[in-house]
Amino acid sequence: MYPQIFSAAKDVDRAFLIILGFSVFILVVVTIAMLWFLWRYNVKRSPVAADIRGNFWAEVIWTVLPTIIVLGLFWTGWSSFKAMRTIPDGAMEVLVEGRMWSWKFTYANGKTSQELYAPVDTPLRLKLSSRDVIHSFYVPAMRVKWDLVPGMDTEVWIQSDTVGEYDIFCAEYCGLKHADMITLLKVLPAEDFQAWLDGSAETEGDEILRGLALMEEYGCFDCHTMDGTDDVAPPLNGIAGKERLIILPDGAKRTIKADSHYIKTSIMDPGAELVDGWDDEMPPYEGDLSDEDANVIVNYLLGKDESGKPFKALEHPGLHFAKVEGCLKCHTTDGTTTGRAPSFKGLYGSTITVRKDNKEKMLTADEEYIRQSIKHSTKWVAEGYVDSMPPYDDLNEETIEGLISFIKSLGGKD
Ligand code: CUA
Repeated sequence: MYPQIFSAAKDVDRAFLIILGFSVFILVVVTIAMLWFLWRYNVKRSPVAADIRGNFWAEVIWTVLPTIIVLGLFWTGWSSFKAMRTIPDGAMEVLVEGRMWSWKFTYANGKTSQELYAPVDTPLRLKLSSRDVIHSFYVPAMRVKWDLVPGMDTEVWIQSDTVGEYDIFCAEYCGLKHADMITLLKVLPAEDFQAWLDGSAETEGDEILRGLALMEEYGCFDCHTMDGTDDVAPPLNGIAGKERLIILPDGAKRTIKADSHYIKTSIMDPGAELVDGWDDEMPPYEGDLSDEDANVIVNYLLGKDESGKPFKALEHPGLHFAKVEGCLKCHTTDGTTTGRAPSFKGLYGSTITVRKDNKEKMLTADEEYIRQSIKHSTKWVAEGYVDSMPPYDDLNEETIEGLISFIKSLGGKD
């Protein structure tokens, strides 16, 4: 049996064991009685059947005893169910979204994750919602299983008294990759959880996301791209060590290598070392952005974490959205196909045959096509695929732009 790490789970286990115990007890009693009757009332042993006309006490016993047993079993089940359904006041709220075929968890400060993080010894109120079909949130270690029904608000609560990692499954068949709807509940010590929630955990993935989040927050991507294309400012991907011809305020030109000093100066006081060919339009972030945050951005752009260790690869900002929104469960980024959806690689600009009301239509996968396919996924379904993607009509513009730019960065006709 799974470890008991949740107080309400203990009640569930007790109810389970009591019901199982009674079932076994009754099985044994009935079997023994049956064998005894077979032996005792065999035709050789009792050739003439007794003619019994009712027995008051036998009737009382077989009416009252089963009633008491059944009510007792009901009570043990009901009391454990009540413990699981009574959510303590002040429980920490986390939104849980299920969709084909992944999970998304959103915390009070807006942070999202694909695995559920929880502080130890703290009750969590999980508000369940589904984007498409019925899923079921199942944490065996918590003895919790509850459906996520589209258009209906459901909730459960959990609490762990032990730090560790526990499985989360989808327990309602929801289509082809139902078995893929697996993730983890990560129970952390309270300080570690807070550090994770504040985004200052020292892990590589978090460092990347923090740099990215800061750049989004400060609007860097309004002017800079991460896919090598020029916007109103130079692209920033792969900037580390690149040679830059810069103009100093006195008009002198100099070639330098983009290092941490250069990038930080470019953020804090862009006019001081302006790249040749670009106007001095960027506002200085000196005083607006803290020194610490500026260093996080610099490290992100250099592809290094705080200790100077390189990231495996600098992520495109849109890749983060694609992961968080679950796109990559069905769409690949390497040109292969999962059979459920077209690959993102080479998608942009390609010609796609779509089907609508049994009519075929050829469309070019331009920005508008991708935008419509994300927001209103059922509008056009690409030939050869079934209509299985949920509509993402509630994504904010930034996320959609990020996804489009990510898909564009994976190549295609332009
Ligand atoms: Cu979601 Cu099965």
